[in-house]
Amino acid sequence: MLSKETISIIKSTVPVLEVHGTKITTRFYQMLFERHPELLNIFNHANQKQGRQQTALANSVYAAAVHIDRLEEIIPVVKQIGHKHRSLGVKAEHYPIVGETLLDAMVDVLGDAATDEILAAWGEAYGVIANAFIGVEKEMYEEAENQDGGWADFREFVVAKKVVESDVITSFYLQPYDGGKIAEFKAGQYVTIKVKPEESEYTHLRQYSLSDASGKDYYRISVKHENDGVVSSYLHEKVVEGDKVELTAPAGDFVLNTDSDKPVVLIGGGVGVTPMMSMLNTLVEAQPEREVIFIHAAENGALQAFGEHVEELAGANRQVKNYVVYANPTEADVERGAFDLKGLIDLKWLKAAAGDVAAEADFYFCGPVPFMRVMKQYLAEMGVSDEHVHYEFFGPAASLEAA
Ligand code: HEM
Repeated sequence: MLSKETISIIKSTVPVLEVHGTKITTRFYQMLFERHPELLNIFNHANQKQGRQQTALANSVYAAAVHIDRLEEIIPVVKQIGHKHRSLGVKAEHYPIVGETLLDAMVDVLGDAATDEILAAWGEAYGVIANAFIGVEKEMYEEAENQDGGWADFREFVVAKKVVESDVITSFYLQPYDGGKIAEFKAGQYVTIKVKPEESEYTHLRQYSLSDASGKDYYRISVKHENDGVVSSYLHEKVVEGDKVELTAPAGDFVLNTDSDKPVVLIGGGVGVTPMMSMLNTLVEAQPEREVIFIHAAENGALQAFGEHVEELAGANRQVKNYVVYANPTEADVERGAFDLKGLIDLKWLKAAAGDVAAEADFYFCGPVPFMRVMKQYLAEMGVSDEHVHYEFFGPAASLEAA
């Protein structure tokens, strides 16, 4: 337990953190990688370059400081980050390294304002916050290991099949090299893949949503080839069937609730359709009575993944309604009559597509941040209650509140 004095010192530094948080965490990461270059095997270099990780860490330290005397209130957030950490192989022994470097970065940025008293209070508070993470993550490691077909760290998998899904998205079917069982997962969860491109000094980790239902003898990920994407370029261009990659067990708390039989609305933007595919396949297999509205917004037909598969499912399952939205359809798309809406989803259209079930349905969406921001806003305007709104970010969690 933290003393009253410590708590009041931490709270008094909150305004400073609010102003200098990102500066401190930016300096923190510079120092961390100077001192521990081996951590570059874990951290995403692209997130660093774009400053997204620095902001995510600053925000969470800030949130922890605000809640320092009632940390239990932010346990859901700790769990969400804990899933990410567990899936990346973050261990208890990493925490002191991060804590020490964070304090040194505070001294570096705040100068004399970082008094011994403030640093001692922060050192103590970091210990409490770190213990909350370590405790949550320890349970997650045990759970991952003890699950039937589960495992705690990285496990070798073979690329059994590579399937082109669109001009930019390819699926990889991954089977364990040891030939053993693989753990069941919940639709919406992701795995971390570890690769080491030849030209790279470090290993690279990326998290990809599983894009098929659980219960198969493979895990499927569907990867968009990103411009300059180290891992996606490697997977698309270099990896061939039969190659090995490493995976951690499925993780994540953005999951389809299969205990409910209320309608479900799944909305995917671009490659954000991947967790939605897992959810749709799961619903059709496991809850064939449950009404599903599936909406995929893509640039055009050439860039849309899984279009034919969803069409077939909707054709064969009366409870599934399928809507396709193309921002910029090609002539071929127009000739095929392949879409229901041209342009971007707007409130009126969404109301027409899903308004009838807005009062009771669970809504799940995933896509680029601007797309998710408007979806969240529309659902609020349609009166969908927060508990029925579920979404997942790709990359470090950002805020969806209008900036
Ligand atoms: C991701 C917070 C300790 C490694 C994150 C994220 C947050 C966070 C907010 C982003 C999660 C998201 O996007 O959903 C914290 C806090 C810590 C802590 C508050 C201490 C109390 C650590 C430690 C390590 C670590 C000790 C290991 C050295 C990572 C990595 C990511 C991550 C590798 C993924 C992001 C990337 O690769 O860019 N953490 N973390 N974290 N964290 Fe931590």
